[in-house]
Amino acid sequence: MLKIGVLASGRGTNLQAIIEACEEGKINAEVAAVVSDNENAFALERARKYGINAYFSEAKDKKKHEEEINEIMKKHGVELIVGAGYMRILSPWFIKEWYGRLINIHPALLPSFKGTDGQGDALNYGVKISGCTTHFMDEKPDHGPIILQAAVRVLQDDDRERLAKRILRAEHQILPRSIDLFEQKRLVIEGRRVRILPGDSWMNEALPDVLYSEGF
Ligand code: GRF
Repeated sequence: MLKIGVLASGRGTNLQAIIEACEEGKINAEVAAVVSDNENAFALERARKYGINAYFSEAKDKKKHEEEINEIMKKHGVELIVGAGYMRILSPWFIKEWYGRLINIHPALLPSFKGTDGQGDALNYGVKISGCTTHFMDEKPDHGPIILQAAVRVLQDDDRERLAKRILRAEHQILPRSIDLFEQKRLVIEGRRVRILPGDSWMNEALPDVLYSEGF
């Protein structure tokens, strides 16, 4: 069973989606540790509720913070680290240590609307379609090889909250599925491109108004 470590800074609904997918047996994995840079992150509370090792790691000293994350992950035998709303940029040292075993979710269709407010930036720009992206992390934020994307309509009456909510539903699908593909060893990084080897599909769970990239 794949051991996952999750990094989260906030409320942790993506963490919740991962935990549920594990519990339901949709992914052959377990969350072995959760680390947050925010002492009050609800993500930590969620983890503890499930008896998952949950740690707050002070991030004032970035180097110390990352060394701590690294130690915790190794201590728990973590094989894949998942950024699920972790709002910090990881250093090249950490990325190098974990490259290929470090994935992230971003609430926009990369390479558009990188940064901390992908949903608000997309809405304000006036795009008609946005969505979410999972990718392997590399040294540049929101930049590494893309695993899955889901396209979501931006509606006339959307405000940031409504759009973010619609995107979040798709995040909760493509992030667990990306972990599943990793666990099945179906992700092959070829430079910037990720080849997804053939196998099963989650398309039976497709939401009617979302377009999923190949491999979902
Ligand atoms: C998600 O939209 C994620 O893509 C973004 O931050 C949000 C985290 O939400 N980076 P949650 O903490 O998983 O509920």
